[in-house]
Amino acid sequence: MRWVLSVVAGAAFRAANRLFNNHCNLTVILQPTTKLFIDGKFVESNTSEWLDIHNPATNEVVGRVPKATQEEMLAAADSCSRAFQSWSETSILSRQQIFLRYQQLIKDNVKELAKVITLEQGKTLADAEGDVFRGLQVVEHACSVTSLMLGETLPSITKDMDTYTYRLPIGVCAGIAPFNFPAMIPLWMFPIGMVCGNTYLMKPSERVPGCTMLLAKMLQDSGAPDGTLNIIHGQHAAVNFVCDHPAIKAISFVGSNQAGEYIYERGSKNGKRVQSNMGAKNHGVVMPDANKENTLNQLVGAAFGAAGQRCMALSTAILVGEARDWLPELVERSKALRVNSGDQPGADVGPLISPEAKDRVNSLIQSGVDEGAKLLLDGRNVRVKGYEKGNFVGPTILAGVSPEMTCYKEEIFGPVLIVLEADSLDEAISLINRNKYGNGTAIFTTNGATARKYTHEVDVGQIGVNVPIPVPLPMFSFTGSRGSFRGDTNFYGKQGIQFYTQIKTVTSQWKAEDATLKSPAVTMPTMGR
Ligand SMILES: *[C@@H]1O[C@H](CO)[C@@H](O)[C@H](O)[C@H]1NC(C)=O
Ligand SMILES: *[C@@H]1O[C@H](CO)[C@@H](O)[C@H](O)[C@H]1NC(C)=O
Repeated sequence: MRWVLSVVAGAAFRAANRLFNNHCNLTVILQPTTKLFIDGKFVESNTSEWLDIHNPATNEVVGRVPKATQEEMLAAADSCSRAFQSWSETSILSRQQIFLRYQQLIKDNVKELAKVITLEQGKTLADAEGDVFRGLQVVEHACSVTSLMLGETLPSITKDMDTYTYRLPIGVCAGIAPFNFPAMIPLWMFPIGMVCGNTYLMKPSERVPGCTMLLAKMLQDSGAPDGTLNIIHGQHAAVNFVCDHPAIKAISFVGSNQAGEYIYERGSKNGKRVQSNMGAKNHGVVMPDANKENTLNQLVGAAFGAAGQRCMALSTAILVGEARDWLPELVERSKALRVNSGDQPGADVGPLISPEAKDRVNSLIQSGVDEGAKLLLDGRNVRVKGYEKGNFVGPTILAGVSPEMTCYKEEIFGPVLIVLEADSLDEAISLINRNKYGNGTAIFTTNGATARKYTHEVDVGQIGVNVPIPVPLPMFSFTGSRGSFRGDTNFYGKQGIQFYTQIKTVTSQWKAEDATLKSPAVTMPTMGR
């Protein structure tokens, strides 16, 4: 399957040209800008306001993205509204076929998608492929829509009377995605929304739009009709547009607490469904009976992978009892990670998304030092040969942290592991339950009773037992809780289908005495013909 990369920004192309090897199946066409995707066409914006896209490893400008005009955003929403008329009436089997083709196309192009992610987002190529794979699994799950959308029936609730329900799409839905997972998070959104019969308006992060543009092209090539997916770009004006446009019935958001609370308030006030996944402070509890080798490796990977820019990063370790003695070894292993541009072989930790993000992380590290934490590993002055201008911070460990410190209270979103200590499991649990966030947590132990007590008493939506980043596969839902989530229906899984559908309940009475006799049919009925 050939598809054209003209949908990614121009200089991104030149860089992508360098990255892509000759035998890959992409035809790369240089274009000056990132396009909008409106009514089945990749069109250049008429805006006068543009944002640069940077390669985080070098801070070179690799492309630019428009702030779509009001007119363009209206055209995109209108296209969604028009397409909804026919898409919602398309048979569920046809929609399923499109997504079956789509999952294959994504699978065939994982490496190409990963290259664009690494270029714009900075994460290592291996991690970028993981980003695509986790999104792909949601697309694969969307292909079981024929089971997922089943309604319920209760026959004979009274004489000759039955009640049944069916699930229907709700209309135009919209997604607002963050910079940290350019493939996975958009793929949590529009495939589930669309397979249910909704049309979709997507606003990818303006820092990493390339991957979403490629995903849109591939969806079109899979047979999605014009207007079923539209893409706009921008910042606040685009967010407000999504929150206010009357045709949009539901909004899916992933990102910071500040933006997420705002979108939840503004969207809900306008009568829309909103699901909002926000910030996190994920704690890993290390019990002294844990498998040491495995636990230390898991901790290091989960704290510093993706340079800590995962809402599910395990950013806080609580060492319980004698597990405190493992700290020096934790530092040694963290020191061994290689900081480098994400496209370089052997890179473990790539750059942060922007110079501002780097400054923020550095100042949170300094706040820890100022407030009395022990800086056991300092990544602030890391030098990466050939990438001196990149936004790199090396693995950093702050120990002796207490809950009042700023570095504990704020989500750092960088390669910084902060370490607290506790005398007992109960103390660790009460510490975690006092933190405002509830996305994820993990416990490392070889004792089943300890693990069970922990999973029952900790007030966090996603728990790993000897699993550091417990993001559930899509047959389950992403169940962040408390300060990490606003809304009442989570992303993907059964809850994702609920979010994107409404239920119609029919109660009917067909009196037995009204049944008519007809001459018997003798031919085999041909369903659906
Ligand atoms: C840009 O303006 C031209 C001329 O008015 C118009 O034809 C075109 O549709 C506009 N493009 C977009 C993306 O709205
Ligand atoms: C939860 O995870 C999601 C998705 O990874 C992330 O966007 C969000 O910021 C996180 N929030 C919490 C509290 O984990």
